[in-house]
Amino acid sequence: MKSDETVALVTGANRGLGQSIVKALAETGVPRIYAASRSPFQLPDFGSTTSVLPLELDITDASQVASATSLASDVTLLINNAGLLPRGSATSVSEQDLRAAIEVNLIGTWRMASAFAPVIETNGGGAIVNILSLISLHNAPPFAAYSAAKHASWAMTQSFRDDLAGTRVRVIACFPGGIDTDMRQGVPAIKATPDSVASSIVEGIMRGDTEIFPDHVSAMQGPSLLG
Ligand SMILES: NC(=O)c1ccc[n+]([C@@H]2O[C@H](COP(=O)([O-])OP(=O)(O)OC[C@H]3O[C@@H](n4cnc5c(N)ncnc54)[C@H](OP(=O)(O)O)[C@@H]3O)[C@@H](O)[C@H]2O)c1
Repeated sequence: MKSDETVALVTGANRGLGQSIVKALAETGVPRIYAASRSPFQLPDFGSTTSVLPLELDITDASQVASATSLASDVTLLINNAGLLPRGSATSVSEQDLRAAIEVNLIGTWRMASAFAPVIETNGGGAIVNILSLISLHNAPPFAAYSAAKHASWAMTQSFRDDLAGTRVRVIACFPGGIDTDMRQGVPAIKATPDSVASSIVEGIMRGDTEIFPDHVSAMQGPSLLG
């Protein structure tokens, strides 16, 4: 993928990995990025010539997603980054948290990919990148809802690949290990910086990778978990 011909949309761009992905895309010369978030926010000035356009978007809201396909009709690269990690084991997680994890990590990601696949095809092709997790490939019992949702999202990613095989839309799966963001606050783990993970993700996309293992832990464990 050529960075200088790419128009990107990043969900959950207001903080954490999403904000770092916007920065990495700008640094690699992507000229236009839609930085989507649930509420208005101010991104730092990355000092590049990239046009970063804010887009209000809750991925659980079907009408907002439909509007986004009109407002961002020139997109060629969708990065499904928005995610939610409720705490709780299988017996302690609430039904509400389980539903929320599925609603954001699985259905929201599916909704965005379904809506933007035809947009990307119309624009001459490009890619959909689903930010999954190493936890999509191995279970994390303290995060039962997240594990279930991220496993299901990996299954759905593979189904999109099959479905879009005859099109010019590539479907890329990304499996990070721990990242030092709000999501992992208070969880002891090896955590990579969001900037380093984002740079690896953008490098992998531009290189044409199909699976991306963007940090040390992920690169060590991911390929064998994938089988
Ligand atoms: N942190 C890790 O260790 C880790 C490891 C592997 C994979 N990941 C994945 O990396 C991605 C980014 O995570 P992160 O670490 O940056 O988490 P984070 O710091 O908690 O940020 C989550 C982002 O998702 C957004 N979001 C949540 N629900 C949304 C919705 N319904 N619609 C739109 N945006 C929504 C949040 O927006 P608000 O600010 O409005 O809440 C926020 O921008 C997630 O998919 C996560 O599963 C993270």
